[in-house]
Amino acid sequence: MLMVVLFGMVSSAVFASDPGPLQDFCVADKASQVLVNGFVCKNPMKVDADDFFFSGVNKPGNTNNKVGSNVTTVNVNQIGGLNTLGISLVRIDYAPYGQNPPHTHPRATEILTVIEGTLHVGFVTSNPENRLIFKVLNAGDVFVFPVGLIHFQFNPRHENAVAIAALSSQNPGVITIANAVFGSNPKIDGGILAKAFQVDKKVIDYLQSQFWEDNNN
Ligand SMILES: *[C@@H]1O[C@H](CO)[C@@H](O)[C@H](O)[C@H]1NC(C)=O
Repeated sequence: MLMVVLFGMVSSAVFASDPGPLQDFCVADKASQVLVNGFVCKNPMKVDADDFFFSGVNKPGNTNNKVGSNVTTVNVNQIGGLNTLGISLVRIDYAPYGQNPPHTHPRATEILTVIEGTLHVGFVTSNPENRLIFKVLNAGDVFVFPVGLIHFQFNPRHENAVAIAALSSQNPGVITIANAVFGSNPKIDGGILAKAFQVDKKVIDYLQSQFWEDNNN
């Protein structure tokens, strides 16, 4: 019995990130009707360099939105060749005082480097400690956000900031905390959230009536 429990823990740890490839590549065949974990492979003889290519990460995203940031994603949806490879990339632009609000990637650890400007970054550890791990980053600095943990970046300066980050999944997923909790569709019952957040239900009604900006494309 103990062995079964141990094996269960080990195998769930192994499958907590993208599974490894069983061939050189498996370029996503997005036209296929077959549903698998990820995408089925395109005929390898029909694969060419463009299946591993994306251009435009030199261009800033438009940060003129409520949170003052814009995430340009380069994952399996932009590069079919990333299918099964367990890696992807983003460019993040921050307006002055803009932020990439608290969010989590259910399937990826993130390693971020600041290209331009300054960022206040942090992540919070699991219960019960919920310790904030916080750092001020400048151009050239690198920081890691472990898989699943809630994290954020904030630009404290009156000038733009730019970061590039790599993520350990072809499709990391994003759960923006405020959007998921207060902007779900349909809404979570206000009474449940009032008790969860220990506030008056009016506060929840107000939060649920807001437009929750999604800064990811
Ligand atoms: C992010 O920038 C792109 C490119 O400028 C733009 O098309 C998109 O609407 C922007 N997204 C948000 C949420 O502002």
